[in-house]
Amino acid sequence: MRFTGKRVFVTGAAAGIGEATVQLFREEGANVVGVDIAEAPGIGHCDVSDPSSVTAAMKAAIEELGGLDILANVAGVNWFSKIDDITLDLWNRHLAVNLTGPMLVTQAALPHLRASKGNIVTVGSISGLQGQPYNSSYCASKAGLIMFMKALAVELAVDGIRVNLVCPGGVDTAMSTNALSNVKGDIDFSHFPKMMGVLPGMMAPIKIAEALAHLASDAASTTTGASLVVDNGTLWS
Ligand SMILES: NC(=O)c1ccc[n+]([C@@H]2O[C@H](COP(=O)([O-])OP(=O)(O)OC[C@H]3O[C@@H](n4cnc5c(N)ncnc54)[C@H](O)[C@@H]3O)[C@@H](O)[C@H]2O)c1
Repeated sequence: MRFTGKRVFVTGAAAGIGEATVQLFREEGANVVGVDIAEAPGIGHCDVSDPSSVTAAMKAAIEELGGLDILANVAGVNWFSKIDDITLDLWNRHLAVNLTGPMLVTQAALPHLRASKGNIVTVGSISGLQGQPYNSSYCASKAGLIMFMKALAVELAVDGIRVNLVCPGGVDTAMSTNALSNVKGDIDFSHFPKMMGVLPGMMAPIKIAEALAHLASDAASTTTGASLVVDNGTLWS
């Protein structure tokens, strides 16, 4: 029960890693507001790429929770595409949801996190650390997200706010199941072994939720600016 009485806001909460994160924090005593662009029972509406939607969702969450101790930025999108086929819309959508979204949600959460000396945990990706074929717009968005959060860790230390990331490898969610469906033409699979872990299989979403919870907990009170790789040993070298 590491989070008894803690007030938590989770984006991307309708499915996958976000859903597992909401469940884990609740099991450990937190009061959690989960939001998503998709509808799901008990989940509030928020499009993280839309400033007015973020403002409204955060206002509703603060009214419900009475403040905020932990922000978990989990929402994200990923459509693999060859560089020749990247449309401006696809490129912009990756940046809007994966990079601008966490910035907007963090801004909205900040006054409340300053009041509680709370902390921020964000889902990055090994795609922000490793170049991946047919995935350049996602890789760029996640690399930007990692450095954005590291910069905040320095800037917000004076406020007593810790900022950390978890960078997953392949997780068994709808995102990874559907990712390649957008690629047109032949796929050169010779690249793909480098994107697989030395441990077998895809990870369960709970493994990423557990890493987020660790970084958000008092056990990690001396950790900030970290990006914890949880990837079945993909980036082993
Ligand atoms: N699945 C993987 O292999 C993997 C690996 C590394 C990182 N990640 C990251 O983990 C996070 C969660 O992804 P997941 O694997 O659980 O995928 P998922 O598709 O199961 O869940 C993503 C959730 O984000 C929501 N979302 C999408 N756009 C949104 C928006 N504009 N506003 C609010 N919510 C929005 C979706 O509706 C969905 O519920 C993402 O940031 C993703 O980039 C996933």
